[in-house]
Amino acid sequence: MSLLAHNMTTGTAQIGVTGLAVMGSNIARNFARHGYTVALHNRSVTKTDALLDEHGSEGNFVRSETIPEFLAALEKPRRVLIMVQAGAATDAVINQLADAMDPGDIIIDGGNALYTDTIRREKAMAQRGLHFVGAGISGGEEGALNGPSIMPGGPAQSYEALGPMLETISAHVDGVPCCTHIGPDGSGHFVKMVHNGIEYSDMQLIGEAYQLLRDGLNLTAPQIADVFADWNNGELDSYLVQITSEVLRQPDAKTGKPLVDVIRDEAEQKGTGRWTVKSALDLGVPVTGIAEAVFARALSGSVAQRRAAIGLAAGQLADAPSDPARFTEDIRQALYASKIVAYAQGFNQIQAGSAEYGWNIKPGDLATIWRGGCIIRAKFLNRIKEAFDTDPNLPTLIVAPYFRGALESAVDSWRRVVSTATQLGIPIPGFSSALSYYDALRTERLPAALIQAQRDFFGAHTYGRIDEPGKFHTLWSGDRSEVPA
Ligand code: 6PG
Repeated sequence: MSLLAHNMTTGTAQIGVTGLAVMGSNIARNFARHGYTVALHNRSVTKTDALLDEHGSEGNFVRSETIPEFLAALEKPRRVLIMVQAGAATDAVINQLADAMDPGDIIIDGGNALYTDTIRREKAMAQRGLHFVGAGISGGEEGALNGPSIMPGGPAQSYEALGPMLETISAHVDGVPCCTHIGPDGSGHFVKMVHNGIEYSDMQLIGEAYQLLRDGLNLTAPQIADVFADWNNGELDSYLVQITSEVLRQPDAKTGKPLVDVIRDEAEQKGTGRWTVKSALDLGVPVTGIAEAVFARALSGSVAQRRAAIGLAAGQLADAPSDPARFTEDIRQALYASKIVAYAQGFNQIQAGSAEYGWNIKPGDLATIWRGGCIIRAKFLNRIKEAFDTDPNLPTLIVAPYFRGALESAVDSWRRVVSTATQLGIPIPGFSSALSYYDALRTERLPAALIQAQRDFFGAHTYGRIDEPGKFHTLWSGDRSEVPA
């Protein structure tokens, strides 16, 4: 333990961390390992002491038992990072801190807060002269310790005092930190939320690929681990594909079976994916892949319905694919194409959120800071960055030359996978909705004209014409002539 630990010297710590569960404690250690003096606080001091006992030698920590002691340990303007559970717990800690802080001090919420809460809190703190920074932090426990991807929102001015420290402890790719100022108030938590939505989608797609290999080709978990390890050497190179291979290779100590085969197939969620879809519904952005992923988790947990439906006829199913190597390559291509769609949808939601709230988020910057540290880090984020660098107002990633090429070369495989899976009776909501999204966007005339006409028929909701400006209504219950609306 350093000399500073247990020392009541005041005003020496550059950052304070309150909430010392695994994430908070790892991030505090990360700061300390980078040479910062870190003030520690936790509701119960046992956690603080445990951290000091186990890791106190990693750097300079200042122990505190009470909020006044904690704040007195910090240099001014004070920077306090809150790492507590999102929701009511966060509000309680913020208020406790705010009551004892001085104008100009900075409160950083590093949890997965709902961005509308962050907007509210930022406003309330600004009225008290305090800076409030909602910072999305991704990378799990390991990232928190060794370099996460950090998405701080809040006032630009607070980033000046805080940014360099956050950049230092973040992951770095090609020497570039995976941290940048996202924009005002709730923008940091908004992009973290969408990050998680993409994470859900990516995980669902990987799950579908796994199930196709397992049930379509009868491969064992270790065999599928080899497939994912191989895929990770190419354009699918990503953290989630890499850990998938590691998970599938893991044996269960109790039974000797692959661990994945003894885990209950009911996916849980803490809520960020659901928030992403709710927000997308409000913004009118079709994040179909993310929505399918959220619903697929809910379906897996619909135990009563699943139990009731077991044994329902599958109809006539096709034989297993006759060329396993080809089918495996088709699945790889379908996964890549569907994944591009997931990111395209997520970036559209970020563009829409940015426009709605006036955040001025730069999508290329996001692609840059998601290249390392975070859960969705992937090699192809470099390509996303290039695409937005070339055209910051790109309407959709799928038309950027690199992605257009990738999708067009994958599309035959993608269709084969969707139709083969359907003929095999294997559910693929992610793959099929991504392909439908692709087909819908490239379709010149969608059936929406009919929907407009139906709406006009039963509700006089009016429609626009392709050959004239303005709105029109047909007198459906009258002589069926058209009148301007
Ligand atoms: C991250 C993760 C992290 C957390 C998810 C899990 O970026 O580090 O996204 O935030 O693991 O919230 O979410 P679910 O419990 O909803 O799957």
